[in-house]
Amino acid sequence: MAGKVMHAVQYESYGGGAAGLKHVEVPVPTPSKGEVQLKFEAITLNPVDWKTQKGMLRPLLPRKFPHIPATDVAGEVTEVGPGVKNFKPGDKVVALLNHLTGGGLSEYGVAKENLTVLRPPEISAAEGAGLPVAGLTAHQALTQSAGLKLDGSGPQKNILVTAASGGVGHYAVQLAKLGNAHVTATCGARNIDLVKSLGADEVLDYKTPEGAALKSPSGKKYDAVVHCAPAIPWSVFEPNLSSNGKVIDITPGISAICTFALKKLTFSKKQLVPLLLIPYAENLQYLVDLVKQGKLKTVIDSKIPLSKAEDAWAKSIDGHATGKIVVEP
Ligand SMILES: NC(=O)c1ccc[n+]([C@@H]2O[C@H](COP(=O)([O-])OP(=O)(O)OC[C@H]3O[C@@H](n4cnc5c(N)ncnc54)[C@H](OP(=O)(O)O)[C@@H]3O)[C@@H](O)[C@H]2O)c1
Repeated sequence: MAGKVMHAVQYESYGGGAAGLKHVEVPVPTPSKGEVQLKFEAITLNPVDWKTQKGMLRPLLPRKFPHIPATDVAGEVTEVGPGVKNFKPGDKVVALLNHLTGGGLSEYGVAKENLTVLRPPEISAAEGAGLPVAGLTAHQALTQSAGLKLDGSGPQKNILVTAASGGVGHYAVQLAKLGNAHVTATCGARNIDLVKSLGADEVLDYKTPEGAALKSPSGKKYDAVVHCAPAIPWSVFEPNLSSNGKVIDITPGISAICTFALKKLTFSKKQLVPLLLIPYAENLQYLVDLVKQGKLKTVIDSKIPLSKAEDAWAKSIDGHATGKIVVEP
């Protein structure tokens, strides 16, 4: 595909929000060793995409400007690089692109073979593209940090999911139920029915006093909290935790890091666990299989064409998406 150009959306410096995005024509990237070239059918946004533009992850991300943001994609393999064994042109896939280089908001991109999985025909591109960062984060929080067995074979645990209507939270509720947990969830009033339909046993409106206090209506103490909402002080979590309860904080700020250190140093049984996603293809394949089996679903907030990517970007920055924001080339 040498010399072919494509439509992409990029930014050239830190800051600027949605207005900082520029529509450009750039060369279609060619796959290097161990990479596949994909024609994207759906891309989803994550808060880390606009946080990177804001400069919150500098100097690590982005690696250079201009930067084409977004990493979560579904599409079709159009070319394979040297050494690729598991994919061929025409395969439908879901992939997590490299966070350093991004490349999602465009018509084509390249993904590492080892973070690409096959997408069966039962799964739409939008459903598949929701899974990489949000689904894998929910999976890692529950299995690795909370120690839940998703086949339901372990002891029953009480789990609280905050911001259960968001990208990570809506997957966390469903996965926790697969693991036979009792799930309490927080969300806004407008999403209570949706979050119940995902399997939550009890749902708190975060704008009520009980919701703000994170109190389980049935008096449960939480063995683990998958904390996806903006920062909440430790003093609010503490009285709601079981004796060995853990808060898994997926957006740890300075105060959370201090709590983490303090709890470690004092050998506290109640712990705060900061989480950084470490993605594995086998876990992404597991999530894709659950969607295929009808055991996990991607809630789609909206589908927005690539030509209006700035609307999708502004929506993500706004912080009120229900499920995943999908961009379609
Ligand atoms: N550590 C990692 O590797 C990792 C991975 C993924 C995500 N993250 C971080 O995790 C956070 C959540 O990500 P996401 O993709 O789930 O975000 P998201 O989809 O943008 O979350 C939006 C949802 O949060 C709800 N919400 C906002 N404030 C709330 C509150 N105080 N209580 C309850 N619900 C609230 C909103 O409901 P309303 O509209 O009703 O307000 C909305 O439905 C972000 O900060 C993200 O950067 C970290």
